[in-house]
Amino acid sequence: MTKYVINGGRELNGEVTISGAKNAAVAIIPAVLLVNGPCRIENIPQISDVTMMLNILQEMGAEIKTVNKHTMDIDCSAITQAEATFDMMRRLRASYYLIGAMLGRYGKATVSMPGGCNFGGVRPIDQHVKGFTAMGASVEVKNGIVCAETSGRLHGANILLDVVSVGATINLMLAAVLAKGKTVIENAAREPHIVDLANFLNSMGADVRGAGTNVIKVNGVSHLHGGFYSIIPDQIEAGTYIAAAAATGGDVTVKNVIPKHLDCITGKLQEMGVEVTEMDDAVRIVRRDSLKRTNIKTMPYPGFPTDMQPQISTVLCLAEGTSVVTEGVWDNRYKYVDELAKMGARIQVSGRTAIIEGVDALTGATIKACDLRAGAACVIAGLAARGTTMIEGISYIERGYEDIVEKLRSLGADIRCVDMPDEPQRQEQVS
Ligand code: EPU
Repeated sequence: MTKYVINGGRELNGEVTISGAKNAAVAIIPAVLLVNGPCRIENIPQISDVTMMLNILQEMGAEIKTVNKHTMDIDCSAITQAEATFDMMRRLRASYYLIGAMLGRYGKATVSMPGGCNFGGVRPIDQHVKGFTAMGASVEVKNGIVCAETSGRLHGANILLDVVSVGATINLMLAAVLAKGKTVIENAAREPHIVDLANFLNSMGADVRGAGTNVIKVNGVSHLHGGFYSIIPDQIEAGTYIAAAAATGGDVTVKNVIPKHLDCITGKLQEMGVEVTEMDDAVRIVRRDSLKRTNIKTMPYPGFPTDMQPQISTVLCLAEGTSVVTEGVWDNRYKYVDELAKMGARIQVSGRTAIIEGVDALTGATIKACDLRAGAACVIAGLAARGTTMIEGISYIERGYEDIVEKLRSLGADIRCVDMPDEPQRQEQVS
């Protein structure tokens, strides 16, 4: 088994370049199913979630050519059947985007849902189903398989989401693009990757308006044409390096970012006494003094992102005083707390709230990543801790962080990937 070994307690200094956004890439790649013609997509992050999505399309019959490390030509024009292997789809949460894309293109979709669940209890798709049904599809969810079908073409509909859901907003946009007439999605999510998907679709000939607000209007078009598109930088990857620099101290410039997308994260770090300088497409973080306590509540964008909650909570473990973190999106996203406790962190969780008593230092230990962002929190803890930290379960981290070891080493971290004897296997989980 491969693990990360970190000799912590070193400041981070220097520059790090952020990759393309995972959660935009895993929506835009299946969106190519809707396009008649080749798409050149740039700034694709090299992470395992993206590889899995590309493998699914390839298995369906897409032509995929690698232009360079981050650019691919993808052509789905020749695909005629709306089927992929369940085994591959089960390993990736975002495979549910295939439902909207396949329904929109072929009027039919059979997709298996991810089997495991690493936080949030059951991760429901009722809002996706509600929207597809309103657009004229019959949808059946049985034994983890979603079968959706429409007799003709989907039609536009007015859909009011009961909860703000990133996945449902994206899936309904995908289904609506080639539907007959106008679809209105109300109470839509506003995350940067939703705007990115809308921009991608529009640059291929779609008519999607209002993305980034809570009402998205999609006027169906007859077909989409090929073109070029570059994926936005990853807000959460950037936030993770920012949090790492805050935890270790030092002076780090995070390059290739959209600073506006980071406001909710950098604002909190400023409250904690971290210096933040915003540039056109970079943010500089300097932390010399001790960290101050604060309170955080995660919320849909533009609120503080749930996908940064484990990382910022790790930083708060090292702040003076008591901080309160409230998870406003998922029911149970505190599994990493037991791992940090092994390093001396003092966190009490009750329901969706964590009370964090800052400590002077964390101490290295052997810990496990239990999901992607929990894994990022483990890395931050290891970088800041005294002594050696060994992190298991790194495949979760590599689902969403491109070249994390190399990027951290370039900032002066002592982190390496090592092969160690196997331990009993744990169940595959999803992000
Ligand atoms: N929800 C419902 N019904 C639905 C859909 C969602 O009740 O039909 C609830 C969920 O239970 C949750 C809330 O709505 O309480 C938000 O869920 P959402 O649908 O927004 O989450 P998601 O689309 O499954 C995406 C990201 C997650 C991120 C969430 C929230 C992708 C592939 N995943 O998940 O990212 O936490 O939005 O921002 O885009 C990660 O990157 O680490 C990650 C887990």
